[in-house]
Amino acid sequence: MIVNTFRILLISMAIIAVSCNKTSTTTSPTDTSNSGTNSTYNELFVPPAITGTNFNLTLDKATKQFKTGAVTATYGYNGNSFWGPTLIMNQGDDVKINVKNNLSDQTTVHWHGFHIPAVMDGGPHQIIDAGATWSPNFKIKNNAGTYWYHPHLHMKTYEQLAKGAGGFIIIKDPAESALALPRTYGTDDIPLVLTSRRFNTDNSFNISGAYGDYLLANGTMDAQITLPKQYVRLRILNAEIERGYDLGLSDNRSFNIIGNDGGLLNAPITTTRVKIMPGERVEILINLGNDAVASSIDLKAYNTGQKFGFPGAEPASAGDFGSLINNKDFNVLHIKVGASTTSAITALPSKLASNTYWTNSDVTNSRTINITGGQAGAAFTFDNNTYGFTTINQNIKLDAIEKWTIVNNNIFGHSFHVHDVQFKIIARSSGVVGDHESGWKDTVYVPLGETVTVIAKFDDFSDTVNPYMYHCHFSNHEDGGMMGQFLVK
Ligand code: C2O
Ligand code: CU
Repeated sequence: MIVNTFRILLISMAIIAVSCNKTSTTTSPTDTSNSGTNSTYNELFVPPAITGTNFNLTLDKATKQFKTGAVTATYGYNGNSFWGPTLIMNQGDDVKINVKNNLSDQTTVHWHGFHIPAVMDGGPHQIIDAGATWSPNFKIKNNAGTYWYHPHLHMKTYEQLAKGAGGFIIIKDPAESALALPRTYGTDDIPLVLTSRRFNTDNSFNISGAYGDYLLANGTMDAQITLPKQYVRLRILNAEIERGYDLGLSDNRSFNIIGNDGGLLNAPITTTRVKIMPGERVEILINLGNDAVASSIDLKAYNTGQKFGFPGAEPASAGDFGSLINNKDFNVLHIKVGASTTSAITALPSKLASNTYWTNSDVTNSRTINITGGQAGAAFTFDNNTYGFTTINQNIKLDAIEKWTIVNNNIFGHSFHVHDVQFKIIARSSGVVGDHESGWKDTVYVPLGETVTVIAKFDDFSDTVNPYMYHCHFSNHEDGGMMGQFLVK
């Protein structure tokens, strides 16, 4: 891992274009067709949805035409050329999923954000061999919200995710269903997964480094969608390797945040920008009700001039820590306004949920996790321990309400994710916890120089053998060993 050496250089030697031999086969840095200035768009791919209690997923090799010339080798579930179907599940249902692995490599499938038994979690231990099928079953206990599934095979997560293995899960529940919110999938309720990729000269994905050069929205480059003239809902997932997004709309209008990782916020929040880091989800409503039919507006990443430690703020245009879209504002989705639908949502509910969050007085145990490593070419770690497949780093009592303090005085920002639970962020040493992260969360951004405190209850599932994971959701850091394991017992 020579990678962090370059970051130290960036910190200590001001701004120098970091170059790296890994860039020798990549696209020329003068190609800026993703910078928002082009006028040709491709229709946004909206993944097909599957509903019910029995789901079949098959992971396979595929190809997709991203650039002119050769197709790109990809992965997709259920015959999709990149990404997988959206699974729609209902709270309270007992679901069974058959996951068939048609790759010639092992894989796993993790249900990100789900509160389920560790042995069903799909972490690094629930390996699905090439040609095999894994059939977990569990009860859906989470709140209505936007979740996702993705491979979690240790040291292969980056590669398999980067090739396109992943998918959305939408959970529904009666409380959310009773609200007047947009929920017609693909019409006024749109899943939007953001990632970026770098291509080699033969159009294959370059599976190295932190950042891609081309933004992919649901696997579509230069994506556009026509949305009805009313309130529309975007369920946004950052499924990047490292890049963060500071999202806003091109006319700087306000939009409403209604949910984050673990479901609805108590009330909508009005803002013009929202930051979303790898692993995080945010649900937003955009009011297109006052827009003329056939007008357009862009959802953009306003990533110019972010503080060092914001992933993708590094100014280099190439190399392990550079990309064509680093430190730039760039288009994420071109939205064309179409006619309203018959059951249009034209108003915003003032109240969304009645979440009661944990506070300090509920806490039964506290622990601190330090972000370490990353020095002079070494990988990042937690508490100076590299991930060990058979190492248990934390033991937690069933029903404990734990306060975790994550301390980051080390080189760069990270996206901290805990399996099994949804937590409440109660403090950031820099000051306020953002409105966009004020609900239940399973992933939290820990900027450089900051300490973040969260509280979660570890209830329902105990297991003396099978651990859950906590890790950085930058999949290159995770693969490099920035992951630990805990038992709940
Ligand atoms: Cu989204 Cu442990 O992962
Ligand atoms: Cu990290």
